[in-house]
Amino acid sequence: MIDVNKVDEIINRYEKSEESLLAILQDFQREFYYVPEEGMRRLSEVMAVPQSKIYAMGTFYKALSLTLRGKHTIKVCTGTACHLKGATQILETLERELKVKRNSTTEDGEFTVECVNCVGACAMAPVTVVDEDYYGQTRASKVMDVLKKYK
Ligand code: FES
Repeated sequence: MIDVNKVDEIINRYEKSEESLLAILQDFQREFYYVPEEGMRRLSEVMAVPQSKIYAMGTFYKALSLTLRGKHTIKVCTGTACHLKGATQILETLERELKVKRNSTTEDGEFTVECVNCVGACAMAPVTVVDEDYYGQTRASKVMDVLKKYK
């Protein structure tokens, strides 16, 4: 459940004009780690802009997510080279230790775990990317140590 007062506080920071929409959506993303439905609805009312337009912006911009995301994103490369070097074991370790399914977010909102295709660093396989940081030759037994610094 999101804080509706926070939604209004963000909206009130800006001019009531369509040009403010993207900046407001970005602030929603920063505050809630995604763009919540209630935020889009409120924005639509206040700005008198169709909700469909706001939704379209939410899906168009890559930096915005319409589903809850963790504070940190863990991408496990499951491309061929990484798969051959143990990506599955890394994923299984993360799922077990963080109690989360792949392509979803932990209950505490800390981490989103995603499977991705080749991230272009096959020489370092298997590769795990946490936020913008690349970790090569990741061993399943060590992946939880990597996460400690993001807690
Ligand atoms: S397959 Fe993982 S980096 Fe290329």
